[in-house]
Amino acid sequence: MSADLPPDQPPEPTGDPSADGPPRGHVAAIVMAAGKGTRLRSDTAKVLHPVAGRSLLHHVLGVLAPLGLGRIVVVVGHQADDVAAHARDSGLDNVVTVVQQPQHGTGHAVEVGLSAIDAADKVLVVNGDAPLLTAATLARLADQPVGTSAILSTELDDPTGYGRIVRDADGAVLGVVEERDCTEEERAIRSVNGGMYVFDHDGLADRVAAIGTDNEQGERYVTDLVGLLVAERREVRVVTAPAVELTGVNDRAQLARAGQALRRRHLDEMMASGVTVMDPEATWIDVTVDVEPDATILPGCLLTGATHVAAGAVVGPHTELHDTEVAAGARVRQSVCDTVAIGPDAQVGPFAHLRPGTELGPHGKVGAFAETKNATIGARSKVPHLSYVGDATLGEDVNFSCGAVTVNYDGFDKHHTTVEDGAFVGCDTMLVAPVTVGTGAFVAAGSTVTEDVPPGALAIARARQTVKEGWADQRRAEHDAD
Ligand code: UD1
Ligand code: CA
Repeated sequence: MSADLPPDQPPEPTGDPSADGPPRGHVAAIVMAAGKGTRLRSDTAKVLHPVAGRSLLHHVLGVLAPLGLGRIVVVVGHQADDVAAHARDSGLDNVVTVVQQPQHGTGHAVEVGLSAIDAADKVLVVNGDAPLLTAATLARLADQPVGTSAILSTELDDPTGYGRIVRDADGAVLGVVEERDCTEEERAIRSVNGGMYVFDHDGLADRVAAIGTDNEQGERYVTDLVGLLVAERREVRVVTAPAVELTGVNDRAQLARAGQALRRRHLDEMMASGVTVMDPEATWIDVTVDVEPDATILPGCLLTGATHVAAGAVVGPHTELHDTEVAAGARVRQSVCDTVAIGPDAQVGPFAHLRPGTELGPHGKVGAFAETKNATIGARSKVPHLSYVGDATLGEDVNFSCGAVTVNYDGFDKHHTTVEDGAFVGCDTMLVAPVTVGTGAFVAAGSTVTEDVPPGALAIARARQTVKEGWADQRRAEHDAD
């Protein structure tokens, strides 16, 4: 802990202990999410930008969720309707939204937010652009006793861009000064404002109303509350947190760094739980993805959405999975899968593309240069190479040989193909849908099948071979004579 922190601070844990604690129904929260995010240079409001699989706003709401707070007020402004709808999508039933229009600064955001809070002892105020916060850290802020305000802070070697926490000679907090309003001396302070605060609800509306606009931007800053409280001789504590947790996302470079840190944290948790990750630096797994202990993730994998990888499965190298279920013991190599269910001990790839609606059964296989879509492939059935299986149901123990394809599209509509249990579809077969190949039937290689094949039958649908004895030798002799 650095020397310029006030002496009354107890040592604080740097880990991430459980957010469990006293019930916090008496603590309301204001999430400030009305800003445009000018520095992102985007048409999309800042808090809607995704990072590591969730929007900035959902990261912050996800951190507030386990605290058991009273009402959570999300202050929206830019793209207010979209952001408000997105806040409601979080699934938290204690979230309400209020519109701040126009945006006169973070102090103004708190004023607007307070209009949606009738009863509370404490009000937790949170920047909407800090996705790396943890619930444990916010709990330490929320659990300050009534009569005490607090501001979350960290020490940065490079404090550029953050508000500085100014103290007197004894280390007592005097106030927060934004970088653009800093004197030369203040600019050198490395103790920064993380943008999270807790205040007593009692008297807060009056203090917020007293916030002026005497700063370089002419905005009303929430940070001025610190100076106002100090002037009233009220206690303002500084609660410290690991620097990474207070990373605010203002531009695209910070967005990328926040994503790296979030994914790394998620990977570390997975590895601690027993997942093998061969190279964490070359593995990109969103926080929404669940990987079970004893699964293995090889380098170059991008796992997103509601993907789940079960124990004993091996994924990668170089594989993209979105909203995909990989069952125990399955093996997925160098492939792309979107909205797919891969069964136990099944094999995918290398170089397969499994599109939405593919279900591959236990011990099934979709191999090299095969593409599937809206296809159910039964247990032990194999599509080993160079095939397209679209809008199809393959039963169990089907062999869908090299180059066989479903012809599912007639130029207007899509049609279904059914291949029943144990059927053998020879190489380079076209199954022109709608069509059914019955149980145990064979289709000769090179066939174009336009009519159903009965169970147990052989279908040959190609020109019969003609052999012209000596034709080639004669052709060559004529050529040499010319
Ligand atoms: C803010 C703090 C700064 C702190 C930093 C930490 C102020 C004045 N400064 O600066 O001391 O070091 O966070 O990351 O608060 N917002 C609104 N309405 C507004 C303006 C902003 O809802 O009128 C929201 C934004 O959407 C954002 C949050 O408030 O989620 C913070 O605003 P931002 O402009 O990012 O503040 P910083 O300049 O980062
Ligand atoms: Ca910010």
